[in-house]
Amino acid sequence: PAPGWTDTVDVVVIGSGIAGLTAALKARELGSVLVVTKDVIASGSTQWAQGGIAAALGPGDTPEEHLQDTLVAGAGLCDPAAVRALVTEGPDAVRELIDLGTRFDTQATGGLSLTREGGHHRNRIAHAGGDATGMEIERALVAAVKRADDIRIIEHALVLDLLRADDGAVAGVTLHVMGEGQLDGVGAIRSRVVILATGGLGQLYAATTNPSVSTGDGVACALRAGAKVRDIEFVQFHPTVLWLGKSAKGQQPLVSEAVRGEGAFLVDQLGNRFMQGQHEMADLAPRDVVAKAIMRQMLAAGKDHVFLDARHFGDELWRVRFPTILASCRSHGIDPVRELIPVAPACHYSSGGVWTDLNGQTSIPGLYACGEVACTGVHGANRLASNSLLEGLVFAGRIAESLAGSLPDLREPAEDTRIPGLVDADAVPEMQRMMTVGAGVIRSATGLAEAGERLGKLIEQPSGEPGTPGWEATNLVTVAAALIAAATAREESRGSHWREDHPDRDDAQWSGNLDLTLPVECE
Ligand code: SIN
Repeated sequence: PAPGWTDTVDVVVIGSGIAGLTAALKARELGSVLVVTKDVIASGSTQWAQGGIAAALGPGDTPEEHLQDTLVAGAGLCDPAAVRALVTEGPDAVRELIDLGTRFDTQATGGLSLTREGGHHRNRIAHAGGDATGMEIERALVAAVKRADDIRIIEHALVLDLLRADDGAVAGVTLHVMGEGQLDGVGAIRSRVVILATGGLGQLYAATTNPSVSTGDGVACALRAGAKVRDIEFVQFHPTVLWLGKSAKGQQPLVSEAVRGEGAFLVDQLGNRFMQGQHEMADLAPRDVVAKAIMRQMLAAGKDHVFLDARHFGDELWRVRFPTILASCRSHGIDPVRELIPVAPACHYSSGGVWTDLNGQTSIPGLYACGEVACTGVHGANRLASNSLLEGLVFAGRIAESLAGSLPDLREPAEDTRIPGLVDADAVPEMQRMMTVGAGVIRSATGLAEAGERLGKLIEQPSGEPGTPGWEATNLVTVAAALIAAATAREESRGSHWREDHPDRDDAQWSGNLDLTLPVECE
């Protein structure tokens, strides 16, 4: 559809989690800011984050040690300069969040209460409400954005595509707004800068910790516009997601790594611990190591879950430290104070995404990205636990700083945007099944080829209706195709990319990042 209305603003931020709202708050200094978000403002992944936000804030800890842990988890593919920016600017960024009104948990002495998660050699994870960190951060950011009456927000606004000028630079976005007064229906926002902060792509898979809005929209828009996408094969599967049976689909309840950080441990069907001897950090090994060990246990036992034992916490610790997880377990009939918790890996986080430099600039002039949608280089092949909220915070700030005094001119959008044929939303469950089987935790050339072939058929027969479900389905299959191409090309196992036909890490051939653009070809 042709845009029915046009509006103009200096900066458009797409997405309203920690990255988007931080970008909006910082970009106020630059000019007029509009935040567009697909659902209601707090509906993204940030509010679901449990464990916390990592930063070298504890006594004796240093950014250097945080850097080392991040590089080890990233399995050779992090950009050390990006990681250095993250860990050195991280502590101040967390202090700014506190100044903004975020109430982190504190010790009796008044200092921040810090816990540990997989891959961290220090207690450096700040948390809030016990295990409701994301909820508290999102609350504080939403309140700050609502106080800032110079930031406009449009909810229920799905970004369709990026507008480009004749010279290739970004000139704004096309939007489909549902029921928001004057700006209803399909329209165009012209802007000097577009900041993608659309979050992740967990809905590519049948079971995920991500909310229903995580449909890879930012990566898909960026690909359609010709932007470079990097490391998209590295999809992180969280080791301990509450197992609700074979047929459980969609968003699943997370059981935070912080539960293991406080002393819980994994056991097999016979009650035996199995992480000891697998890695020097045992149950607190980096996430990819734990997820693989669980998968091996499940395959060996012919079962689809293992168990987490945290009975020794007792009622009081469970209630104070993990109220959200306690409630979600009990709502599913499991009492973790007395029983083992059944868990299995599920899709959790996209370590790769739209490539950016250290200032969040993508390969398209005027287009920036931050948060899960971006690939800044801090995660490499496997994100270190609790580095994601921090990345959103730090790199959103870097975008605004880099643009200070140098906002590009408003461009004239080139010819009308091309609307791609939309995929039928009814195809999504089939795509999720196929991605889970062929491009999930364990991959092989054969499985990926089958997934690619079936996906090709879905793409060839577009028949979706214009509207959110059709656009989301289109975005999902666009990203799925990119992911399959990258996972097929990387013939090794590294970080969260596990190829059973190439079980070892191969530094001689594969020590570089994989970049791709549409049509999907890897370099
Ligand atoms: C968790 O709480 O286990 C998730 C933390 C993360 O994904 O960084």
